[in-house]
Amino acid sequence: MSQRQIVEVVDDGGDAATVVRDHGFPLPNFPDGPGIDGVRSVKIRDDDILLITYPKSGTHWVFEIAREILSGKIIDDNVSKGQAFMEMVPEETYTDDPSPRFLNSHLLMKHLPDDVRKKKIKIIIVLRNPKDVAVSLYNFLKTLPHVNYKGEWKNFVRPFFHGKFIYGSWIDYVLEWEQVKKDNPDLPVLTLFYEDIKEDQMREMRKICEFLGVERTDDFLSKVCDNTTIASMKTRQKKDDSGIQVYRKGGVGDWKNWFTVAQNEWWDQHFQERMADSPLQFKYTL
Ligand code: A3P
Repeated sequence: MSQRQIVEVVDDGGDAATVVRDHGFPLPNFPDGPGIDGVRSVKIRDDDILLITYPKSGTHWVFEIAREILSGKIIDDNVSKGQAFMEMVPEETYTDDPSPRFLNSHLLMKHLPDDVRKKKIKIIIVLRNPKDVAVSLYNFLKTLPHVNYKGEWKNFVRPFFHGKFIYGSWIDYVLEWEQVKKDNPDLPVLTLFYEDIKEDQMREMRKICEFLGVERTDDFLSKVCDNTTIASMKTRQKKDDSGIQVYRKGGVGDWKNWFTVAQNEWWDQHFQERMADSPLQFKYTL
């Protein structure tokens, strides 16, 4: 039997969103997606670099920053994250890319090729506070034609928390990657926080340089800063506008404009229960 089924998940108001259940994990219904089996069989090179995020955590932003740091060039073309988005495109899309390739995925370690772990490729993980992630994902899902979600915010928060929508529970995702780091202390992993990059992009970019083993001048890094503002990236994307809304507000704390007092109290209580044993700390305002 196929491990992939298209299913409708419903929010608290009965509004449906379409997802693909692949090995039990909810994925977007990507038209050309290879599925988890396809991703598992991707051939990994020793020098591949992998960007890992729960959706809406700043993937495009960090992808753009890191690929400019890696290449040592300010890139003026469209953000090409989708080119090597492992669960969205077939492997052939990036098979011939020159090394080092910069792959990206929202999957868990168990969904990725074994060689990610065996070859100890460099992994950059970006985390963002989950209240802003919830707001960002809510707005994003409504622009995705293959998800076809029309629900209201008031009916979204609880099912999001419980992992009904694409990529499942944020908490499960974050805790599972934390466990991978704990169980594999020899894996080269750099964990960045969206809020820290907002706070001081130069500081965080220096961490990326060190992790990737490249030296870049402050002058170059400040050009990367200018080229990766949300306004600059949005302008470049507009050249082939897909209608999908990746660039929205790009700030910290928009959740305050969305969460009601009751939603916030409910969230904090459930969040603290689930995250009680985790040392992870998130910034909800700057
Ligand atoms: P908001 O919806 O809160 O604005 P991803 O790339 O993982 O899909 O994340 C998308 C989120 O990152 C969106 O958040 C988007 O606006 C924000 N974002 C994208 N580019 C950004 C940039 N250059 N600077 C800051 N935030 C950015």
